[in-house]
Amino acid sequence: MTILVLGAGGQVGRELVLRAGHRQVVGLDRHALDITDRDAVTRALRVHDVRIVINAAAYTAVDRAESDAEGAFAVNRDAVAVLAGALARTRTPLLHLSTDYVFDGSHPAAYAPDAPGTPVGIYGKSKWAGEEAIRTRLREHVILRVSWVFGAHGNNFVKTVLRLARERRELNIVSDQFGAPTHAGAIAEVLLSLADQHVRVGRNTSLPWGTYHYTGSPVTTWHGLASATLTYAAERGMIDEIPLLRPISTEAYPLPAPRPKNSALDMGTTRALLRFEARPWKDGLIEVLDHWAAH
Ligand SMILES: NC(=O)c1ccc[n+]([C@@H]2O[C@H](COP(=O)([O-])OP(=O)(O)OC[C@H]3O[C@@H](n4cnc5c(N)ncnc54)[C@H](OP(=O)(O)O)[C@@H]3O)[C@@H](O)[C@H]2O)c1
Repeated sequence: MTILVLGAGGQVGRELVLRAGHRQVVGLDRHALDITDRDAVTRALRVHDVRIVINAAAYTAVDRAESDAEGAFAVNRDAVAVLAGALARTRTPLLHLSTDYVFDGSHPAAYAPDAPGTPVGIYGKSKWAGEEAIRTRLREHVILRVSWVFGAHGNNFVKTVLRLARERRELNIVSDQFGAPTHAGAIAEVLLSLADQHVRVGRNTSLPWGTYHYTGSPVTTWHGLASATLTYAAERGMIDEIPLLRPISTEAYPLPAPRPKNSALDMGTTRALLRFEARPWKDGLIEVLDHWAAH
């Protein structure tokens, strides 16, 4: 009985496959399975003896989405709707990832999982629409909203900061957006553990289906994450000198897509029902930097 991972070439997808261990995991990257190809999705579900699906595939180019709404909605909403519909026919569960960008960031505290979606950019709107498509089609789902994902594989803020630190003596980093960086490896472990639970309990009982939050701790700013990255990188001899980090406002660094000012996600129900705690993002950051230093 297979755990099928879609989007296996991405940050979280790679970690899911690398951390699979003894489990029977089949990971399909975009090349092996384009999730917008309805027939290919149906075929993949039939060919592999699928017990549960983890969808780590997504259109994640937040700024590009502003000028490519069609592309973003095709992957993040339409393909997800088709997938959820296909899985509903066999009551095969779906573990799906979503984002803090389904919220506009104006809430003064951490967002609860059942807070209404208020996305402001195309990417956030397409991810919210994908969530809704699952909730209306497939009871057997866990939607896990994560935030500020970084990992050893793929592109992310941590990698960019490290590259810029080698090229420049000063960096301007946004310091008025608040969120929780989340290690891709930690997300993968939560998803694999949920898959394990499902495989173990079978159809008699079930996971507490629904929408949850999973992030690292504590909440910080991009400036805070950059600062920690460069401190640990310097300790490991990965950069010669720590550049001057200038805190700047969101407005001073205009981008095509609007960003939520407050991305904090409340993990209360995740702790109570799924029994996962937030892990310190600094531990994940050190793991990633150690990996890069060694390779
Ligand atoms: N990255 C973040 O900061 C962040 C924050 C919050 C939530 N999330 C969510 O977390 C999940 C995983 O994100 P991530 O950071 O691992 O993203 P990622 O590194 O961009 O991985 C996404 C993967 O999906 C693939 N993909 C795109 N379109 C596809 C299609 N039509 N069919 C099959 N695969 C397709 C991409 O392939 P290509 O590279 O070839 O396009 C990529 O390998 C996503 O649901 C994302 O929305 C991410």
